[in-house]
Amino acid sequence: MSRRTRPTWLEPAQSSPEVPEREALPPGNPLTTREGWRRFVGRAPRPPEPLSAEALLALPRATRAARQDARRDYHADLPLVSTPTIQKVIATGRLLVQLNRNQISARRGAIISGMSGTGKTTALTQLARAHELATRRRHPRDPERMPVLYVTIPPAATPRMLAVEFARFFGLEIGPSANLTDVTNTVCSVAAHTHVALVLVDEIHNLNLATRFGAEVSDQLKYFAERLPATFIYAGVEVEAQGLFAGARGRQIAGRFAVVEAAPFAYGTAEQRNAWDALVATLESTLRLRDHTPGTLPAIAEDLYRRTGGMIGSLSQLVRGAAILAIETGIEQITDDLLDLVPLDYAAIRHTAPTKTSRRALGEIATL
Ligand SMILES: Nc1ncnc2c1ncn2[C@@H]1O[C@H](COP(=O)(O)OP(=O)(O)OP(=O)(O)O)[C@@H](O)[C@H]1O
Ligand SMILES: [Mg+2]
Repeated sequence: MSRRTRPTWLEPAQSSPEVPEREALPPGNPLTTREGWRRFVGRAPRPPEPLSAEALLALPRATRAARQDARRDYHADLPLVSTPTIQKVIATGRLLVQLNRNQISARRGAIISGMSGTGKTTALTQLARAHELATRRRHPRDPERMPVLYVTIPPAATPRMLAVEFARFFGLEIGPSANLTDVTNTVCSVAAHTHVALVLVDEIHNLNLATRFGAEVSDQLKYFAERLPATFIYAGVEVEAQGLFAGARGRQIAGRFAVVEAAPFAYGTAEQRNAWDALVATLESTLRLRDHTPGTLPAIAEDLYRRTGGMIGSLSQLVRGAAILAIETGIEQITDDLLDLVPLDYAAIRHTAPTKTSRRALGEIATL
């Protein structure tokens, strides 16, 4: 991939305000609630341009601190890059929504499956965000419309727990005496009223079809899928290996759901290396560090691959972490020393070659 075809940001830069407002989602409003989801959809972070050291020092202390806080917040949550996984999920999801629009039953869905940190939740939520924004544009006078519902499967879930997760998204109060049928009926009636068209079910690997509760939760999910005129998209860690397609229930899921694989980036062929380099360059273009010279990160793209094993989650952690340290230390650029200070996940460390890697060794990592 050449520079010209490098991936783009999903949330392009907007005009830079003096001190951008804090945009982080409050912990009390996770994505699995209507408020949290709405806020996520409407969010458009604005990159805070760095001031020169002199201009920064000239600011009153409180303004200076607020500015540095805002810059740290921005770098903790950099804009997303439009990766092949996101593009694949959005294309698949869009097509399924159209195919399902007039189906009265046996609607088709998709499952995003892959290792942890490959961007499954990110792709799932970006698909739904794009769908919701398009729906809002089509129905500007209908603020009650909630085209997306997002839930996660709790560990060791029961069917009632799953139904309560659906209800919680809508902010419905469920009393302890409400039985499964009551909760299900209430959810379905609210979902019909608000025109839910896309249902996201994350952490689907928590569904263990080999257990009684797991099988019952799967049946409950299927029941929701029959009753709600919506497209269901699941995401989970390596679902095939978790037995999601095993047995009679699993075979039915396999017959209705397309699998979109979320894989780490590879580094074997020239094309794969170009794709990784382009990802690094795009991520770098989102940085707002005073003394960072563009091209520094692409120059060490191979080393970044060695450190992260091609996992976008690890790369993102590395770059965001080093950027925050660059602001805190006043170094204002990403250096090798700062990258060394960022704690990485075990999976990435396991992929890291012990000595300076040759291209041959990287090829081996890519095919692991
Ligand atoms: N397209 C992207 N651009 C920039 N950062 C990304 C992108 N996709 C994922 N990330 C970052 O990688 C990290 C992991 O992503 P995400 O949570 O989507 O992975 P996951 O596959 O759902 O992991 P898990 O299986 O552990 O739930 C997050 O910090 C996220 O911001
Ligand atoms: Mg996830």
